Amino acid sequence: MEIKTVEEFQKIRASWGEKLLILGHYYIPDETILLTDRQGDSLALSQFAAANETCDAIIFCGVHFMAETADILANSLEKVAKRGGKRIPVLLPNMKSGCPMADMATMAEVDDCWRRLGEIIDTEEILPVTYVNSSASVKAFCGRHNGVVCTSGNARRVLDWALTQKPRILFLPDQHLGRNTAIEMGIPREEIVMWEKVAGAPADAVRNAKIILWEGCCPVHNKMEAGVAESLQREKPEARLIVHPECEQEVVAQSHSAGSTAFIIKEIQNAQSGDAFIVGTESHLVDRLATEHPELEIQHLGEPHPCEDMGLNTPEYLFYALEQLENGTLKNVITVPDEIAADARIALENMLKLG
Ligand code: 13P
Ligand code: SF4
Repeated sequence: MEIKTVEEFQKIRASWGEKLLILGHYYIPDETILLTDRQGDSLALSQFAAANETCDAIIFCGVHFMAETADILANSLEKVAKRGGKRIPVLLPNMKSGCPMADMATMAEVDDCWRRLGEIIDTEEILPVTYVNSSASVKAFCGRHNGVVCTSGNARRVLDWALTQKPRILFLPDQHLGRNTAIEMGIPREEIVMWEKVAGAPADAVRNAKIILWEGCCPVHNKMEAGVAESLQREKPEARLIVHPECEQEVVAQSHSAGSTAFIIKEIQNAQSGDAFIVGTESHLVDRLATEHPELEIQHLGEPHPCEDMGLNTPEYLFYALEQLENGTLKNVITVPDEIAADARIALENMLKLG
């Protein structure tokens, strides 16, 4: 059978009841987010996947690394054993929806960096920390070294903990989240070093470093410019500038506040009628906030910047995922191999323990 309309989708979705969990990241298009059961930022969605006890399948409207994370958490050895050996399939509606930032840290590059760092300092001194926007293999690398995952919602808490474990951190793959968090923690700039994939970093700088940043960034948030923020604020001095910490440091430094997507949404929800905001994050979300809050003045930080990969989660692809479940012909299942999942789970659980 083929699902062609929202009505057909809803009828079949209703027949699945609690046996199906449809998750949606805040950056997916409005027409699709309306059809999801739970919405959230990366942290909330991984927690929903970890906590669910009733469903037989998850459809994850987001990007590849998110579905991998849901698979790792929903199919731990204990959970699978408790279900009598049954795995919960995690479906990604559009298999092309990846994350360019996650792709900026391949395992070959991370292994090469670790080996070269080991020629300068003892890698036993380094705790690897990866932003959740990374491949399962990079999370597994962190797990193998007793490291941890973080999200934009808990990066500060995670890095505070990481520095109680080891004197230095290798932060993957988002240099901006790493730098912004380190600066917020009061780490001096000379102790924050960028590791370039080819050039590496000067040996003296590495020896002096508390945080070694990976050379990655989100191509969406990286487009937001400090100069544009400055001129928009000059035009509208009463507006509050709120930005995501995936933006570069010069943008975050000018903002009134910076935080995860959930934080940005909360700031908007708590505003008073007539308040004005310039919002520096992904444009599907900013447009939705503007529609939902006509009592506020909400504008983008410059041109709207949509995440094209999130945009691939159209209703038609969600219909296609449900069709696969209904027909028993699963094609879009994201499965992390057991040995990678086991190590990645260590790093994810280290994060979840911190709350
Ligand atoms: P959060 O959902 O953690 O705010 O991250 C934003 C993002 O870029 C997701 O890919
Ligand atoms: Fe990746 Fe950036 Fe898109 Fe998030 S917004 S999925 S970090 S490219």
